[in-house]
Amino acid sequence: MLPTFMPVATQAAIKGLTAHQVEALGVSLILNNTYHLNLRPGIQVLKEAGGAHEFQGWRHNLLTDSGGFQLVSLNKFTKITEEGALFASPFTSEPTMLTPEESISIQHAIGSDIMMQLDDVGPRVGEAMWRTIRWLDRCIEFHEKSGKRHQNLFAIVQGGIDHELRDQCLEEMIKRKDRVAGYAIGGLSGGEEKDIFWRVIKQCAEKLPEDRPRYSMGIGFAEDLLVCVALGVDMADCVFPTRTARFGVALTFQGPLNLRLSKHAEDMRPVDENCPCPTCADGTSRAMLHHIITIETAGAHAVTQHNIVFQARVMGGAREAIIGGTFPAYLKRFFASYFGDAG
Ligand code: GUN
Ligand code: ZN
Repeated sequence: MLPTFMPVATQAAIKGLTAHQVEALGVSLILNNTYHLNLRPGIQVLKEAGGAHEFQGWRHNLLTDSGGFQLVSLNKFTKITEEGALFASPFTSEPTMLTPEESISIQHAIGSDIMMQLDDVGPRVGEAMWRTIRWLDRCIEFHEKSGKRHQNLFAIVQGGIDHELRDQCLEEMIKRKDRVAGYAIGGLSGGEEKDIFWRVIKQCAEKLPEDRPRYSMGIGFAEDLLVCVALGVDMADCVFPTRTARFGVALTFQGPLNLRLSKHAEDMRPVDENCPCPTCADGTSRAMLHHIITIETAGAHAVTQHNIVFQARVMGGAREAIIGGTFPAYLKRFFASYFGDAG
């Protein structure tokens, strides 16, 4: 499968953009979060709307993360038991349990094209890895009985940075290959050293079956994406490009451009004159973006659109280079330019 980047629409919207605008950028796969959609607008509303595609006016593909990772990263009182993840509802403080079955049931109501298993990302990495396998089995069982077989369930490989644990997890999950549509590599993106991160990606991507997509979760820096692709990854998501846009940082092939800096105040060039995004194509200057980014939300929207198109160009360039047999040259050109001093 050829590489693709998924922008993150946590709350059923990419911050600042309408579904139409995202579609116009050429994006065909976005990510929503089960945890957030379950809290708000809630399953009842999503069911009444006929699913999350309808609710957000999105005509393309949708992937939902299962909620466990968000529960652990956003809610310090979350307690993992064999049954599921126990947390205090942020609205009512009531104890609430998210089980593997419940996560899949919510993802069924959402109607996502790709559903993620509920995984355990707790700090006791070995225990969490084995529990993630048991939870995968519960997700598979529940999903197979549901009659929602057109939705695709992905397993999430855990095991931290421990070679042995990753291998055990890979072995168990590959045994279930006929019952899952794809595999994610989880438990990274936590600020680990780059060489360790690469080693884990390599280990997983090498062993995972050729005929299933491989998805590295939470990876979004262009340089990391390209290393992941070189190691065999097909899909990635991250809030980075859209979040950094709201802080006034435009991504370019010469490296990130902090538009808040006063050096851009009189620069009449677009962010990138070769960029097909609406912001650059309209000729919006760096000076204009510098002016507006701190005073009007329109500035954030303009940079967000540019950054989404940048990610798509990085991955699109990789796709074309792979097809044309020129991927090593593409990497060389990208890294020379991105870490050169032209910007
Ligand atoms: N997003 C980034 N990393 C992870 C992970 O390990 N699990 C899940 N479910 N989502 C993630
Ligand atoms: Zn642009």
